[in-house]
Amino acid sequence: MKRRQFLSLGVATLAAPAIISRRTVAAEPGAPLPIPDVMEVGPGAGNILSAIKGRAELIPGVESDTLGYGQDYLGPLLRFQRGRTASIDVENRTDDPITAHWHGMHVPGYLDGGPQLAFGPGKTWSPELPVDHPAATLFYHSHVHGRTAEQVYRGLAGMIIIDDPEIDDPLPRDYGVNDFPLIVQDRSFDRSGRLTYDLGMMGRMQGFHGDDVLVNGAIRPKLTVPAGLVRLRLLNASNARIYDFNFTDGRQFHQVASDGGLLPSPAAMVNLRLAPAERAEIIVDFSDRSAVRLVSRNVGSGGMMGGGMMGGGNNTATLDVMSFDVGDASTSGPVQLPGSLPATVSDLGEPVRTREFILNISSGNMISSMLNNLIGQDRQTMGINGEPYDMSRIDQQVQLGETELWRINADMMTHPFHVHGVSFQVVTMGGRAVNPAEIGWKDVVHIEGPTEILLRFDKPATVDTPFMYHCHILEHEDAGMMGQFTVG
Ligand code: C2O
Ligand code: CU
Ligand code: CU
Repeated sequence: MKRRQFLSLGVATLAAPAIISRRTVAAEPGAPLPIPDVMEVGPGAGNILSAIKGRAELIPGVESDTLGYGQDYLGPLLRFQRGRTASIDVENRTDDPITAHWHGMHVPGYLDGGPQLAFGPGKTWSPELPVDHPAATLFYHSHVHGRTAEQVYRGLAGMIIIDDPEIDDPLPRDYGVNDFPLIVQDRSFDRSGRLTYDLGMMGRMQGFHGDDVLVNGAIRPKLTVPAGLVRLRLLNASNARIYDFNFTDGRQFHQVASDGGLLPSPAAMVNLRLAPAERAEIIVDFSDRSAVRLVSRNVGSGGMMGGGMMGGGNNTATLDVMSFDVGDASTSGPVQLPGSLPATVSDLGEPVRTREFILNISSGNMISSMLNNLIGQDRQTMGINGEPYDMSRIDQQVQLGETELWRINADMMTHPFHVHGVSFQVVTMGGRAVNPAEIGWKDVVHIEGPTEILLRFDKPATVDTPFMYHCHILEHEDAGMMGQFTVG
């Protein structure tokens, strides 16, 4: 039997029960968007980020078992300043090992919070982070090998904003007034309204896809914004879902930053695609005072899986994300979008070395591995370059300060590829040349065909605490689609 036939049979027989056991929540939309508390992290003591077990009412009136950093679900907004050390005590008050990985930050391996830095219940990890990064919107989350997907799903994640006192940010930047964090995640709930994490066959292959979208932990919330320019910091903190955001009235908006910081100039668009772990800052003009909803087109993971394997059912459906109401005119912030931005995309020079990476759904015999994935017998069957992740194996050794070209491709599916310890530039995507400046500094790139990135590492990582590269579909990462490397 051909693979395609085999897979479509599998979908037909196994997808149906999964749909029956879940429900789409009929919660009234319109609960106010929760705005995460800010934790300004500087060099002093007393910044405590405590991973705890929570009971969160994600569905009003029903408590779910969750995890959070210092709160029931998710964590505070961490605010770091470039040029200042950020000292933070991460406590583990959960029942399992955790980490706190500063996704997108440029810190040495021993401060990065990767899988080797997992620490057990009752322990505290106290990194002092030298903040050496342009102004940007980053991500933090637990990163314990084999448990990342469920820990992030339950809530061990949050947003970081890095401020750069050296630049004059010409965009709206009054937090909670005209500058908002939007942490977007899809989740599923059982009939009683409790958060569930049931992978099943589909989730194992494609990563988890939930039925409902949460923003900052609330289902389809409502935000009242001032009538004027508003900055939205979008973080796709979902395990596997790709969003293609747009507004219901088709309005144009401008992207002003990607993963690693500001773009050279605002880019006009009517829809924005974000793969897992990608970030984008957008400016939306609400001066017409009309209420509008932010929605997402359902995007598949392409390749041979085509549309049929998409989790969560209907491939053409639109997902409701949140709604906006418009209040009074802003009293602060710019009234006009600047034509150019203080971006930092620099010339990395010519690469001195090329490395190749193939992301594999199966790392051995394809059909038997696929079967194992489908039935969940062996979680370690995904890999990169034919090998599943092995914590005791160093896959690459990179020289500090040298520019390299990495070529990444994938078999069968598209994958968001992430590299620790660096921001990179994308030079080709899906086999086509792109302008790196337009895309900006990235730390995740969606692999939809041959992709080339340029990178230059300036932070070291040793054998004991190497950096990771991996697929950011968290179920793929946990199943072994990850490698590690030293920089020195
Ligand atoms: Cu978002 Cu290896 O991490
Ligand atoms: Cu990372
Ligand atoms: Cu993947």
